[in-house]
Amino acid sequence: MNIKDVISQMTLEEKAGLCSGLDFWHTKPVERLGVQAVMVSDGPHGLRKQDEKGDHLGINDSIKAVCMPAACATAASFDRELIGKMGQAIGASCQHEKLAVVLGPAVNIKRSPLCGRNFEYLSEDPYLAGEMAAAYINGVQSQNVGTSIKHFAANNQEHRRMSSSSNADERTLREIYFPAFETAVKKAQPWTVMCSYNRINGVYASENPWLLTEVLRKEWGFKGYVMSDWGAVSDRVAGVAAGLDLEMPSSGGVNDKKIVEAVRAGKLDEAVVDQAVERILTVNEMYLANAKPDTPWDQEADHILSADIAAQCMVLLKNEGVLPLDKADKVAFIGEFAAKPRFQGGGSSHINCFKTTSALEAAEGLPVTYTQGYSVAKDEATDDMIAQAVAAAKAAKTAVVFAGLPDSYESEGYDRTHMALPACQNKLIEAVAAANPNTVVVLHNGSPVEMPWLGKVKGVLEAYLGGQAVGIATVKLLYGDVNPSGHLAESFPVKLEDNPSWLFYGGEADKADYREGVFVGYRYYDKKRMDVAFPFGHGLSYTTFAFSDLRLSAEHITDKDTLTVTVKAANTGARAGKTVVQLYVGDKESTVLRPVRELKGFEKVELAPGESKDVTFTLDKRAFAYWNEELHDWHVETGEFTIEIGQSSRAIDVSAAVTVEGTVKLKKHYDKDSIFMDILSDPAAAAIIKPLMDGMSQMFGPGDGDDPSVTDDMGAAMVKYMPLRNVVNFSAGAVGEEVLDVLLQALNNS
Ligand code: BGC
Repeated sequence: MNIKDVISQMTLEEKAGLCSGLDFWHTKPVERLGVQAVMVSDGPHGLRKQDEKGDHLGINDSIKAVCMPAACATAASFDRELIGKMGQAIGASCQHEKLAVVLGPAVNIKRSPLCGRNFEYLSEDPYLAGEMAAAYINGVQSQNVGTSIKHFAANNQEHRRMSSSSNADERTLREIYFPAFETAVKKAQPWTVMCSYNRINGVYASENPWLLTEVLRKEWGFKGYVMSDWGAVSDRVAGVAAGLDLEMPSSGGVNDKKIVEAVRAGKLDEAVVDQAVERILTVNEMYLANAKPDTPWDQEADHILSADIAAQCMVLLKNEGVLPLDKADKVAFIGEFAAKPRFQGGGSSHINCFKTTSALEAAEGLPVTYTQGYSVAKDEATDDMIAQAVAAAKAAKTAVVFAGLPDSYESEGYDRTHMALPACQNKLIEAVAAANPNTVVVLHNGSPVEMPWLGKVKGVLEAYLGGQAVGIATVKLLYGDVNPSGHLAESFPVKLEDNPSWLFYGGEADKADYREGVFVGYRYYDKKRMDVAFPFGHGLSYTTFAFSDLRLSAEHITDKDTLTVTVKAANTGARAGKTVVQLYVGDKESTVLRPVRELKGFEKVELAPGESKDVTFTLDKRAFAYWNEELHDWHVETGEFTIEIGQSSRAIDVSAAVTVEGTVKLKKHYDKDSIFMDILSDPAAAAIIKPLMDGMSQMFGPGDGDDPSVTDDMGAAMVKYMPLRNVVNFSAGAVGEEVLDVLLQALNNS
């Protein structure tokens, strides 16, 4: 189809019509010109395709499909290839179901454990989120169907999600909330981007030209179309002008009319409408030209794939010699989630699974007993339930309590109000742990929980929301058929109040101020040297690993060079296993406030017992840079940087230093209020000011016969914080204002 030609034959009404959906899930057709409708559908960890009545909240039925592990879990795999494979499977199922675009991945940063949608999001770390998102997109799009990376941008709470304004400075947006989108666009070119419901610094994402056009298209090179989140449009005409191509779902023609009127009134350029239509039709055509509805969809095979993926994601948080279990030993499975696992979250991502496998089913044939322990529906553990659980725990070698958050505790649409597990589950765990010293807790949750009983249990396996085959993966890991290799993609604070956004998360009415700035997750906990329950990047294995022999390609580079970092990763234990080699970069000294360390590379490696492998990373300017608001660009401040290689953000095995020279000089802004200290920190300016400075120091230093408590240091301190203007004021006429002007000119040109 010659798209430009087709558009030239369309009426303005037809073009405006194409800028919104036909219904909940389809774009509009223009039959007389052969333009076909295509279907889009949620997403992200499987298909929620509604054939009948549509809704965006996961209420009405959708087709039977396969629920893969949610993003909270898949991010913890730190495995690009794995998430790519999941994407391929989802892409193939889209082909089978005649879907042009799957609505995902969802990459918003986990700012607080309270966000009701954290289970659907990848990480608190923008680098990890971006890498995993790009791998997912490449996987899906390899099947010739599109993705819609969402929700662009700064949509980090469900509370008042359709009206609140995420207020953050540009550096925070660029360093924390944008990079997952940026990386995905640059590495995987998603066919579509979904803008978020919220406003950013007062302007709705759906009508934000800076966001949708300047940053997304002009800076990052996005080529597809932007669609709105469902119902995110406020001012449709402003949206078209800003770069929002497709409104979803249908506005019943109301907004299409407004577009037509705005063009007729000369308030909106028709060429902008043409461009939006061209973008939408180009993406639709990419699908239609390669549609393969005869693609098979073997759901049983995807069920097994889902189990295999889940087994690579779960994180062994604690293990004091209690795991893996021995298949000959008597084990008590306790807790309703053992029989009816919670494996996905509520809302638009909710999948109608064709089947599920619980841990209890997966353990069939093993000497495993089961007691319910608590009732999810009633949110209670009766005395009788606890007594039965205690008896079962006493009769077994090991007790495994399956705990977690019920659906009502976390979902799209609202935030959590606390970080606790249901009280009845905490009570059950305490009772079981008192009855059997070998107690293990398996957690099913989409976001961190407080663990008041942590010191009383010997093992904790974080299963997250592991998809419909979660039980298979759980049993494989508990019994050591698969060696755990997931690592946390988020920090687990000891308590909710430790979270950096605690004081202001949710905001005041519609004002959600991101006052913690770039200090999100471990960037905050590390800077504060604060204890956490489990740090970002943490994950145990049934074997042990060591990283050593760190080699840098150079000791000194400029920000135009790349640095190659090589490290030896060794399996020092007795079992084969996988580990995640994590690379963090930290600026040793900086004039701007920076985190202690930031993840800038990771690789998942598989090692046989005793085996070692070299792992190599390449770092470029971005690994060392911060966002400079004056330059409106990434900037490297010359100095020494630490390269750390570790098994978590708090378990660094080896480190080294490299000097990086920034090649972009910041413009100098000296004026009469500039203080000596700042001028002296700039070598060129310091040379000019030195004689003056010496004179001033003498003037303020201790003289003969002065009070002995006046020291040289005091004199120097008095001067270093002194503004230049005081040279004039204190010189008793020796230095005039004209001299100061000449001096400032020299300083600014130095
Ligand atoms: C969600 C999106 C989803 C859309 C369609 C919205 O409520 O925020 O993530 O893709 O509905 O179901």
